[in-house]
Amino acid sequence: MKKTLKHLYKLAANKQPIACVTAYDAAFAHWANEAGMDVILVGDSLGMVVQGHATTLPVTLEDMVYHTQLVQRGNQQAWCVADLPFMADKSLDSVLDGAAQLLKVGHADMVKLEGGQRILPFVKALAERGVPVCGHLGLLPQSVLKKGYQVQGTNPEQAAQLLADAKALVAAGIDLLVLECVPSDLARQITAALPIPVIGIGAGSAVSGQVLVSYDVLGLTPGHTPKFSENFLTGRDSIQAAFAAYVSAVKQGHFPTAAHEVG
Ligand code: KIV
Ligand code: NA
Repeated sequence: MKKTLKHLYKLAANKQPIACVTAYDAAFAHWANEAGMDVILVGDSLGMVVQGHATTLPVTLEDMVYHTQLVQRGNQQAWCVADLPFMADKSLDSVLDGAAQLLKVGHADMVKLEGGQRILPFVKALAERGVPVCGHLGLLPQSVLKKGYQVQGTNPEQAAQLLADAKALVAAGIDLLVLECVPSDLARQITAALPIPVIGIGAGSAVSGQVLVSYDVLGLTPGHTPKFSENFLTGRDSIQAAFAAYVSAVKQGHFPTAAHEVG
């Protein structure tokens, strides 16, 4: 049976961690499903791991729609979130058009937008139209040229701003929040303050669930692997076994450990 937003809320309410991984095509989506993944994120990280760009900035809406289509053909059960790419949020019209494409043509279940105060009117407009929205706070890969890949929320002012942004996004209508690269204590505080599930990446274990880039989970990313990630294919003999080990580690609270914490 197809997992719904309600299912994710039930998991969070029962303190059962939500397992999420990125996928960009039908085969990965299929094996993520076989492993029991709750959520699949068609991340604009595909610009880096699939397309070979240095950042996510070159990714187009067409790319996102195409990869969401591929994923949804291989996905049976998982809730599917698709990223709105860089500058698809340049205006309200552009956001609505982008979300429409991702849902109508890509068949996504939810759209994800990066940022805080700036995107509040967009979130509100999507929520009013019945579009499920995932927020994304902390390290924002679409802002990397200006801000770099740095842990966020490390001083009291930044931490207070992140908490305020998270609450404002909830008030505007987000249904789910991704929190990237923030100290675990702050992630715990934000999760406790919100009525919606918080999915962390490099945000410690005191959140409602975890997301990792599939290419990192399988050790496919050339070069440096982020500290918060882990290669679950090490010592295993199949992609399905690696995904299953990741899901099980998340669900049993064995991943992430203190060694994966940042900041
Ligand atoms: O694009 C992506 O993979 C993401 C995750 C890092 C959350 O947004
Ligand atoms: Na992304």
